Amino acid sequence: MKNSKIFSFVICVVLTTSCSINNNQSDWDTSINFGWKFAKGDNQDAIEINFDDSAWESVDLPHDWAISGPFGELDEPGGTGKLPWKGEGWYRKTIDLPANAKEKRLQFLFDGVMASPEVYLNGQKVGSWIYGYNSFWMDATDAAKFGQKNVLTIHADTREHYSRWYPGAGIYRKISMRLVEPVHIPVWGVYVTTPMVSRKKVNINSKIDIENASDKSKKITLVVSILNPDSEEVKNMDKEITMEGNSKQTFDFNFEIGNPVFWDTESPELYICKTELKSGNKVIQSNETNFGVRTFEWTANDGFHLNGRRVQIHGVNLHHDHGPLGAAFYPRAMERQLEIMKDMGVNSIRTSHNAPAPELLDLCDKMGLIVYNELFDKYDATAGVQCSTGEYVKQYAEKEVKNFVLRDRNHPCVFMWSIGNEISDILTNRDGEAPEHVAKMVEYFKNYDDTRPTSMGCHIASASVGDKKILDALETTGWNYGRRYYTTRKAYPNMPLLYTESASAFGTRGDYKLEFSKNKIDWGNDGKISEYMLTSAPWSDIPEIEFEYMRTDTFVAGEYVWTGFDYLGEPTPFVNGRRFTSRKDGAYARSSYFGIVDLAGLPKNSFYNYRSLWNTKENTVHLTPHWNWEGYEGKKIPVLLYTNGDEAELFLNGKSLGKKKKKDFSIISNSQKLAEDPDYIVKLENSKDSYYDAIDAYRLRWMDVPYERGELKAVAYNKGKKIGEDIIISAGKPAKLQLQADRKEIKADGMDLCYITIEMIDNNGTLCPRAMDKLNFKIEGCGKFMGVANGDQMGLDVFTDLTHPLFFGKAVAVIKSIKGQTGECKLTVGTDEGKESIITINSK
Ligand code: GAL
Repeated sequence: MKNSKIFSFVICVVLTTSCSINNNQSDWDTSINFGWKFAKGDNQDAIEINFDDSAWESVDLPHDWAISGPFGELDEPGGTGKLPWKGEGWYRKTIDLPANAKEKRLQFLFDGVMASPEVYLNGQKVGSWIYGYNSFWMDATDAAKFGQKNVLTIHADTREHYSRWYPGAGIYRKISMRLVEPVHIPVWGVYVTTPMVSRKKVNINSKIDIENASDKSKKITLVVSILNPDSEEVKNMDKEITMEGNSKQTFDFNFEIGNPVFWDTESPELYICKTELKSGNKVIQSNETNFGVRTFEWTANDGFHLNGRRVQIHGVNLHHDHGPLGAAFYPRAMERQLEIMKDMGVNSIRTSHNAPAPELLDLCDKMGLIVYNELFDKYDATAGVQCSTGEYVKQYAEKEVKNFVLRDRNHPCVFMWSIGNEISDILTNRDGEAPEHVAKMVEYFKNYDDTRPTSMGCHIASASVGDKKILDALETTGWNYGRRYYTTRKAYPNMPLLYTESASAFGTRGDYKLEFSKNKIDWGNDGKISEYMLTSAPWSDIPEIEFEYMRTDTFVAGEYVWTGFDYLGEPTPFVNGRRFTSRKDGAYARSSYFGIVDLAGLPKNSFYNYRSLWNTKENTVHLTPHWNWEGYEGKKIPVLLYTNGDEAELFLNGKSLGKKKKKDFSIISNSQKLAEDPDYIVKLENSKDSYYDAIDAYRLRWMDVPYERGELKAVAYNKGKKIGEDIIISAGKPAKLQLQADRKEIKADGMDLCYITIEMIDNNGTLCPRAMDKLNFKIEGCGKFMGVANGDQMGLDVFTDLTHPLFFGKAVAVIKSIKGQTGECKLTVGTDEGKESIITINSK
């Protein structure tokens, strides 16, 4: 696609979870995720049916064996979270298979096991996989004992896996099981596209694979129906089919629907594709799959167009972990992350840098989020195999791509396939075969879906990338940091561009260094990075510089900020073993500083920076820092306001400190210079203060507010009209713990979660922003305590323990429902000094 072309598409998806997010019918059973036995270490005997596992730990899936730590101290690498994820783990479960199912096929679908899983049924190996982030499935019928107890044993082994962040360990995503007739639609055997889309009509093509796994031929009826977003059937077709013994066939169904309802970020309307296999009048297999109708176009000169209008990508990168839950995937944890991002104004997610849990895509379908779906970070031990890039591409990549694309190709939210992130060997043409490797990877993707462009997250914009035509086979390119896309545009003027990683700016929620950073790498040396949010990695920039790029360079489709949430591992700039490690305190760091939101899910100031620009539906007025500067009386405190307004007035104890107006930043007047000289910003950085001039176009600041206790208030205006105000009050003595649940009612399905925010407040209900008290937790009734986090990147308290400190006044605890137990769940939170508060939620 050297010239932009229109991709249009309709989705369907095999929905496999029992959680609240998927309403579609599915033939998969997920109750298998409860009641497992687990042990770490070398336990090869565990594959034997009669192995005694009674001394093993009882666990439910999803399960991450490393999240309960303990954290290693200085000697453990912070880059992977200082957690014990390396090693072997064994899982066992007894399952009953009914005698009357003996003619059926037994199949297991794994969403992801970290890593190199081997699956045994009744002592017989029935399947294995390598890449820990990918989904895989197997037919285990030959090892099944119908009418008897069966033992499923799974071995996970992370020893060969390399990671630049915390990968988690074990069966960290769900397993699904099904018994299907010998004649059935195989896993991922439905593929729906929309070859023609207009406002007047849409043509839908459904390709349905059918397999007959018995040696007898069989007559069946295949019924495919289309349901509109109100779940009313609008089309229906059937075919009488004779399936010969041991055969596979694909059947095409074509529908035309008038005046389709479009899927859009603003209105994510989903159709349903229903597939039924019938033997006589009996339905032998039935599945419902969501689908949507939309057009899109990635252009070289005007970014991304959805349903005919330009949509600027306001995206974030998300790693796969969920803070205190580790890598264990709970749909509600994901939904909460996406809700927070949507409130900030995000319209797109990059699944950095791996196949996500399938429910992430279900959620994005439903919430109207565009997905840059990425499979790999490098092609070597990061993908689970100790080998060269070339070897990986030739020997291992194809089967990973196949599962990934077959699984995800029906989602309307997926707009791009990324063949990987920062594959240095390719970008430097290490073995001289880089163009061939890229072409091969693209071909693998195209074999399974040709309705979306391919892309790659790149970080080396060397001349040879263009000269040697390394990226020729791709249809778009993504670029990480420093406006590197600018160089590539010269080499590939017709190739649409994305800014796949921007910002990489740092912050620790609640921490303020009153002296402003001198430059963007002035991080301080105590392992906390000021929430004034003025620093970034050396290779990247504060958000405002990126805002300016995106404002000036409208040929770029938009940006994906690194990152939406803090994640476990990669605590740059304090990563052990990397170049910024000399600082003693920072060597304790175990999670990232990059997040716009901290590891507990609490927003840092950056959240309001992006929100004021990206959330165009609601006003943002957010004043900072806190107002408890005891000992600093009369000293000058920088005060910042984040707002979509263009002007604001600040008051201290009722007295006006003047109005400030957003300024035109020099990049605005210098945009010409920027266009001529891509290094212009680098030069700016070196020229004393001017780098920070950019912030005056986006935030309002009063640099020298003399501290006195009391009330600080900002009133914000847009075009002269008041849009809101924010007040910060000096807190009195810590008096009470305030507990707030994100939802007072959760489902008793053993998967649903409740997030409870704990804050230390004074007698008037004001947050005590310096409280670091140790908290003690007690849980009673129908809930399980899953963990607690506070956003401290250096905290070595175990997330799953029943004690944890507050960090700058706050912490967040997570409770999970217990399957089948309905009623109250009570969480008691106390301090050693005797403060105690209780919250009760309901599990239904
Ligand atoms: C990028 C990389 C990301 C992360 C980021 C930090 O180069 O793709 O995975 O490491 O840097 O700035």
